[in-house]
Amino acid sequence: MNIAVFASHGGSDLQAIIDGCKNEQINATVVVVISNNKDSVALQRAKNENIPNFHMSAKKYGSEEILAKEILNVLSQYNADMIFLAGYMRLLHIDILEKYENRIFNIHPALLPKFGGKGMFGMNVHNAVINAKEKETGVTIHRVNAEYDSGEIVAQTKVAVMENDTPEILAERVLLREHEFLVEVISSIVEGKIQLG
Ligand code: GRF
Repeated sequence: MNIAVFASHGGSDLQAIIDGCKNEQINATVVVVISNNKDSVALQRAKNENIPNFHMSAKKYGSEEILAKEILNVLSQYNADMIFLAGYMRLLHIDILEKYENRIFNIHPALLPKFGGKGMFGMNVHNAVINAKEKETGVTIHRVNAEYDSGEIVAQTKVAVMENDTPEILAERVLLREHEFLVEVISSIVEGKIQLG
């Protein structure tokens, strides 16, 4: 199984996937990393691991349509079987959604459908969880469609919210759980326990 990972920022989730493949917890290979952000640590992590990596953005190519075409070319060049969005801050073009139908997954740092949708990313999510006085939050892995955070949920895990948690402390606890959960869920996908299209 060849995985393409899309990431916009720190890429710690990307690193967890790479490490899971390297130590054979996931029977797959990260064949390419794509980022809309040329300065992302994610691209640097890919370089460090000698994984082909590309900065690709609508700004760079002039339109969303051309960007989608270029992304599809790269995915086909590296024989990607599935796409994992690991902190990718953009919606995908319909041409990519159609070509990889049911084969695109995203990780979200809360228990969707709560605390999802436009604007619900990064610390905004953890701030909202704390403000809502939730006793638990978690991690969701879902299929990707044309809207933020609304595709079919394929796996969830809970993370406790402690009484004195700040959003920063909670974010750290959730992110640590993400790193383990990604490995568990991607290996279930690779083993066919979670169906691809
Ligand atoms: C994670 O919290 C993930 O749930 C969200 O973006 C964050 C990515 O973190 N979609 P990193 O860039 O992989 O460190």
